[in-house]
Amino acid sequence: MDPPSRWALEYVAAGIPHHASLPTPWKLNVSYWYTGVYESARMAFRNGQYRTLLSWTALQESGFHIWYRIANDIMIRFETENSPLPRLVPECSGVVLELGPGPGNQLPRFDRRKIARVVGIETNARFAPDLEASARAAGLEDVYDIVTARIEDAAPALERLDVVAGSVDTVLSVQVLCSVADQARVMELVYGLLKPGGKFIFWEHTRNSDPVTRVMQSLWNPLWTRFIGGCRLTRDTISAIKSAGEWENLESIEGDEQPWTMMPRVWGVLVKPVPA
Ligand SMILES: C[S@@+](CC[C@H](N)C(=O)[O-])C[C@H]1O[C@@H](n2cnc3c(N)ncnc32)[C@H](O)[C@@H]1O
Repeated sequence: MDPPSRWALEYVAAGIPHHASLPTPWKLNVSYWYTGVYESARMAFRNGQYRTLLSWTALQESGFHIWYRIANDIMIRFETENSPLPRLVPECSGVVLELGPGPGNQLPRFDRRKIARVVGIETNARFAPDLEASARAAGLEDVYDIVTARIEDAAPALERLDVVAGSVDTVLSVQVLCSVADQARVMELVYGLLKPGGKFIFWEHTRNSDPVTRVMQSLWNPLWTRFIGGCRLTRDTISAIKSAGEWENLESIEGDEQPWTMMPRVWGVLVKPVPA
């Protein structure tokens, strides 16, 4: 395996995305650049897909897909061993909307008996075959719909699937709010789609409250965001979640921030209140 691809694997395997410390993100950037962008360009050139070569977005989407494929098994293991996802995701129930499902890594964690329907909104069309395969493997193929769009623009497509205001029991968001173009708009849509009593389940990363680390996050961010699928290290994700509307269970929000952590995680299960 080429060294940059091996670094990508080592990076994820070492759990660095969890406790990413100040000097490490360069390795992920280099590995991602090589395995993602360079490999995508090479494949597009070899297959005569010149439009991919001419579009930074297409190159980035192809690159992110390749990189995810390389690191995916280790990422799943990392999440199983180091994150609250194995206990959070089975809380999904009823009509579920998953934001940015990627290849569908969370689907095996669903408790199938609680699920009526799942709609995944994924902007990167290259993940669709992986997502379909994951839905099949999880026994969800009959109840799974993919909307290939940005969440910000997905309302018309959701409406065609009868996913309208107040119709969703659970929204699941795993490492997506760091990448969306407009967090406030996404959270407004999420809040509007949830039923009263519906749950917003999330595991995301956010900016650090330590001022020095925050400066380092800002310095890394311009390079990081270009290569890691539009992800940003500097976002105040938890404020965007909280300000979407009134929530019950705000006290359930947890985090693992330490000084020097470049990707501190936040997670929880928030509930949209039922009007009295
Ligand atoms: C880091 S991956 C996480 C994938 C998945 N949630 C998981 O748990 O493995 C982020 C995913 O969000 C998708 N994404 C980013 N911005 C998006 C947007 N505005 N609308 C829909 N999907 C988006 C990306 O294409 C990518 O598949």
